[in-house]
Amino acid sequence: MDKKNFILFEEKFSKLDEIHYFKAPARINIIGEHVDYLGGLVLPAAIDFYVEILVQKNHSNKFRFYSVQYKEEFETIELIHQKNKQWTNYILGVISEFEKLNHKVSGLDILIDGNIPQGSGLSSSAALEVVVGFAIKEIFNFNVSLEKIALIGQSAENNFVGTKCGIMDQYIIANGKKDKCLLLNTATLEKTYHELELENFEFYLINSNVKHSLHDSDYNLRREECESALKKIKDKQPTLQNLYELDEVPDYLNETETKRVRHVVGEKKRTQAILGYFRNKSLEQAASILYEAHDSLSNLFEVSCGEIDFLIEELKKVNVSGARMIGGGFGGCILVLDQKGNKEKIIKDLKQCYLEKFSLVLEIYSFQISEGVTKVLQGLI
Ligand code: GLA
Repeated sequence: MDKKNFILFEEKFSKLDEIHYFKAPARINIIGEHVDYLGGLVLPAAIDFYVEILVQKNHSNKFRFYSVQYKEEFETIELIHQKNKQWTNYILGVISEFEKLNHKVSGLDILIDGNIPQGSGLSSSAALEVVVGFAIKEIFNFNVSLEKIALIGQSAENNFVGTKCGIMDQYIIANGKKDKCLLLNTATLEKTYHELELENFEFYLINSNVKHSLHDSDYNLRREECESALKKIKDKQPTLQNLYELDEVPDYLNETETKRVRHVVGEKKRTQAILGYFRNKSLEQAASILYEAHDSLSNLFEVSCGEIDFLIEELKKVNVSGARMIGGGFGGCILVLDQKGNKEKIIKDLKQCYLEKFSLVLEIYSFQISEGVTKVLQGLI
């Protein structure tokens, strides 16, 4: 947290109580994309980009927020959706979910800053939901688990923001562990942590800088298409709970549903394959699964975009071992798994040709796998 923010906090709100400092990380997802609302397995990890907040109780019924990135202030006494200040809905939504659980949240002042690139598929919004949920739990001493904080964040996003996201982002951001990825069964919330031994390989991110907004995108539509497929299948197989339980694609779905279900069935196979390759340290094969996953996300689930597809093809041409879009899609970041040392060789040319073709600046991020949400300091100043 930039030191200036502590001064800014006092300027905006005055010191009325102890000031606390919390942060929540961004996330990557190695495999299992668009299956976390279909009961699938996902393999995310928290990474060291953060949303950071300073918070105090203000001993009133007011909620007052200041966003350093937007340079915007906001004040309300009501928990209602804000059309023109979308960023406030992530916070108001979380407070409203606590209230539904009969956890009364009184007035708070919150300053928000951070370095997670927004609209880039790294879950800056889930990080905001989780950090606010965690701060509320700590400040009001609510007996709420990290898992529950993740569920509160997801409900806030589903009910208040309006994106019908799954549980993956909030879950990993709340439960991430340093140097470990999390294998999460989104049907049961059973989880195991795994250290990835990458040998002479590395993960890194390429930001296409095509901004997506999950809210405006076809994300909810994809979910509806999957639900309609599930409904048809359940008519014939009533015991089926989730699309992810399927191993074959039924032949009575319409064309769109068939494509979506082909992605889900394929992603399940790819997940088993990549886990095996990581176990055997077959990194080259593991990486190639990422290309297969991208192909499916682009052609079957149709959540990629021209700029990202172009970059993936360019990466293949220069023999990068594997890459795919991550997150909701329609823009944002590509996750690359490649031999160490290659990145430096290919990036300059890639940046140049991307700029020429799309007039967009490509950004590269290296990262460390980090802890989930944390309290950095309590009772500051
Ligand atoms: C977004 C959603 C997640 C998940 C991914 C796609 O990040 O928030 O719940 O569905 O897209 O895997």
